Amino acid sequence: MSVLLYMPDEWQPERWRERLAAHLPDHRIVTQHHAYDPAEIRYACVWKPPTGMLAGFSNLAILFSLGAGVDHVLADPELPDLPLVRIVDPDLTARMSEYVVQHVLNHHRRQPLYAEQQRRRHWRERSQPAARDVRAGIMGLGELGRDAAVKLKMIGFDVAGWSRTAKAADDIAVFAGRDGLDEFLARTEILVVLLPLTEATTGIIDYGLLSKLAHDRVADGPVLINAGRGGLQVEADILKALNDGTLGAATLDVFNEEPLPEASPFWDHAKVTITPHNAAVSNPKALAARIAAGIAAFEAGRPLDHVVDRKRGY
Ligand code: NDP
Ligand code: OXD
Repeated sequence: MSVLLYMPDEWQPERWRERLAAHLPDHRIVTQHHAYDPAEIRYACVWKPPTGMLAGFSNLAILFSLGAGVDHVLADPELPDLPLVRIVDPDLTARMSEYVVQHVLNHHRRQPLYAEQQRRRHWRERSQPAARDVRAGIMGLGELGRDAAVKLKMIGFDVAGWSRTAKAADDIAVFAGRDGLDEFLARTEILVVLLPLTEATTGIIDYGLLSKLAHDRVADGPVLINAGRGGLQVEADILKALNDGTLGAATLDVFNEEPLPEASPFWDHAKVTITPHNAAVSNPKALAARIAAGIAAFEAGRPLDHVVDRKRGY
């Protein structure tokens, strides 16, 4: 019985194959570039698999998403009804927190403005609040959102979080559900989005939501940082909010269409920072061990960790 690794070529499938083979010496590991019989595939580890591909594997036991998000798997209407395991790993979590801290600080310290001044050889100091006077809010207080919240808090930001279900957290104000959303937004000046893409969250970042953000302390207006999924955002609404001053700036790692089309107005918008969906990349050095441990647990009859609730969508 074999393990299939399916991912875009930019991810270097061979690198993943070598790492996984080192952890699973008794398994045949194939990528999409090897010849294999669909009936030999017992475990499929995938990123954006083609629609219907997984339904063709008659002996499949477990699906592994090669990332934390699973929308790219659940989008397949022919998906077999099997356990779907997602990535939860300190390596991925730490990478995301680096990204969040970097971009929150970038806006907080007004770096886009200083970069623009530098281009004009213009020396001018701008007002600078302390982090303790700035209210950051994280939508999505899961594996990634919780760690980012703790790290922003360590720097001194006044941090809150929003999640589907209520939870207790030390030092962080937590809001939950649609009932808690407006209050969360009204106290948030730098909004970080780390939600999964589900039926309930699709298009949640729209003009109405952005209009509810706090407007009083951050010098150039509220800031949006989306490293969750492009489908969470209504892109025309973000542009409208940036253009009419509802939003001061945005950092976007994810888009409805990726790669972002060359014609997108985001590319040369003065208030937008773009990164190519690399906030937290899946690294085979750390994650192959995680997948191998899942397979070993299953084969030993132990329960699997981080199985996705398919009804909830994350
Ligand atoms: P988790 O499943 O651990 O956390 C998801 C969080 O979102 C939970 O707090 C959950 O609430 C909350 N949530 C889900 N649905 C709703 C809703 N309808 N209303 C309010 N809150 C909701 O996910 P992770 O933290 O591991 O990952 C989050 C997302 O980050 C991934 O799904 C993926 O899309 C994205 N990601 C992006 C990467 C990048 O490079 N750009 C890299 C890795 C991940 P509750 O706690 O109540 O369940
Ligand atoms: C993920 C991602 O979900 O890379 O892990 O986007």
